[in-house]
Amino acid sequence: TKLSQDELKQQAAWKAVEYVQSGMVIGLGTGSTAAFAVDRIGQLLKENTLRDIVAVPTSIRTYEQAKGLGIPLATLDEQPELDVAIDGADEVDPALNVVKGRGGALLREKMVELASKKFVCIVDESKLVSGLGGSKDAMPVEIVQFCWKYNLERLQKLPELAGASAKLRMAGDKPYVTDNSNYIVDLYFQEPIKDAYAAAKAISACTGVVDHGLFLDMVDVCIIAGADGVRLQDK
Ligand code: A5P
Repeated sequence: TKLSQDELKQQAAWKAVEYVQSGMVIGLGTGSTAAFAVDRIGQLLKENTLRDIVAVPTSIRTYEQAKGLGIPLATLDEQPELDVAIDGADEVDPALNVVKGRGGALLREKMVELASKKFVCIVDESKLVSGLGGSKDAMPVEIVQFCWKYNLERLQKLPELAGASAKLRMAGDKPYVTDNSNYIVDLYFQEPIKDAYAAAKAISACTGVVDHGLFLDMVDVCIIAGADGVRLQDK
């Protein structure tokens, strides 16, 4: 029997939760894949298989989910060093560089995952690409609201992004607003980004950009669920 995409996401998520041990401070990701990990952690705490966990959520959405499950929560201010963070991704390349943030939570995700000793990325195999930007779907950039159009146009013209088109993310007829009260510009590429490091640097150098969805050299382990089972790729 063929597993559904949700079943694959759950398999990857449950495997990742094996990295969580009692007493750890953990980062909880955002999105449909990470949600399975959060549920699983809640379940293991309830069964008393896991104890003394403190979790730092990467979005208001995940905060609400974890709170509902009774998972003890903290912020990075209170717990600046995490043992392990578990989160999904939108695209994963062969070197385990990833695109994140189609769910809009990129900034808090990046802060929490950078603060973690280990970042375990969980995906179903549909997320694998040969080069970042290759899925033809959005690569998000979080920008301040002030003069967003100016920044959108600047991003679109960056030579490092070679002809990317940029769109302000909308929620109905209003701009989408992040948990940090910023806007998101979604970049769409014709072909995979040639040099993701140069692109990341150029995007970050635009004042008014808060952060972007390129997570480079951050993933330590990627758990990939596919038709042939669950496999692990280490950095
Ligand atoms: C949230 O902003 C994202 O970074 C998610 O982690 C990413 O979009 C993956 O989400 P899914 O697991 O829902 O595909």
